[in-house]
Amino acid sequence: METLNLPGPLARAIIERDRAVISPSYPRSYPFVMDRGRGSLVWDVDGNRFLDFAAGIAVVSTGHSHPEVVKAIQDQAEKFIHISSDFYHPKWVNLGEELSRIAPFSEPAISFMTNSGTESVEAAIKLARYYTGRSQFIGFLGGFHGRTMGAVTFTASKPTYHKGFYPLMNGVVHAPFPDPYRPLLQIRPGEDYSFNRRFDRPFSNIDELCHRVVAALFDFRFHAGHRYRGHHSHYHRDDGAVVH
Ligand SMILES: Cc1ncc(COP(=O)(O)O)c(C=O)c1O
Repeated sequence: METLNLPGPLARAIIERDRAVISPSYPRSYPFVMDRGRGSLVWDVDGNRFLDFAAGIAVVSTGHSHPEVVKAIQDQAEKFIHISSDFYHPKWVNLGEELSRIAPFSEPAISFMTNSGTESVEAAIKLARYYTGRSQFIGFLGGFHGRTMGAVTFTASKPTYHKGFYPLMNGVVHAPFPDPYRPLLQIRPGEDYSFNRRFDRPFSNIDELCHRVVAALFDFRFHAGHRYRGHHSHYHRDDGAVVH
């Protein structure tokens, strides 16, 4: 197999300049320096072509620079680029109506628009506290929810996300995710973890737990959402919040 000489000279130069002025906290896992994308193809600054199997991080499901998406952005930029959320505009309402139409539950949906995943989680935390008047939460081991202070408290996919940032937000405990297909605490013959028995059926104990805490935080990106779609009606009923 031919070994590619990556990153190329132009990519190496950009990475060098990046090192001098961009925070080292970004978790760059691969020295890919993007130039452009089209559909499922992306090109780096040296002209190398790649297949993007991840659609960004599952956020460009239409493919890179889909012509209709590009046109919508261009049309809006021609009209206006910014107006504060102190005011109204029609596209905002159109989006809310569309989200309500496609929401994976039967009740009407009210949307709060955010700029990032982590900001959505912060909003869900505040909403849950405000609505219930309670203070305690359950997060799940293995979950990633973002890096801002509230969201990162829930994040439990790697210890590195917490290292150096204590104390985190108060009132959050973590439990194993009740996934019978990939149980965190495998029960082997002769072993009996009482925790497993309590979490042995998906979501069976969540209602009971939620009577005592503000919320159990479920936060699935759209790509992961499919797998859990069937369960939405279970854990998001009673004026729940869906974080997408
Ligand atoms: C499930 C989930 N929640 C929250 C986030 C944080 O999103 P953002 O990086 O946009 O803040 C991510 C990011 O990958 C995510 O996958």
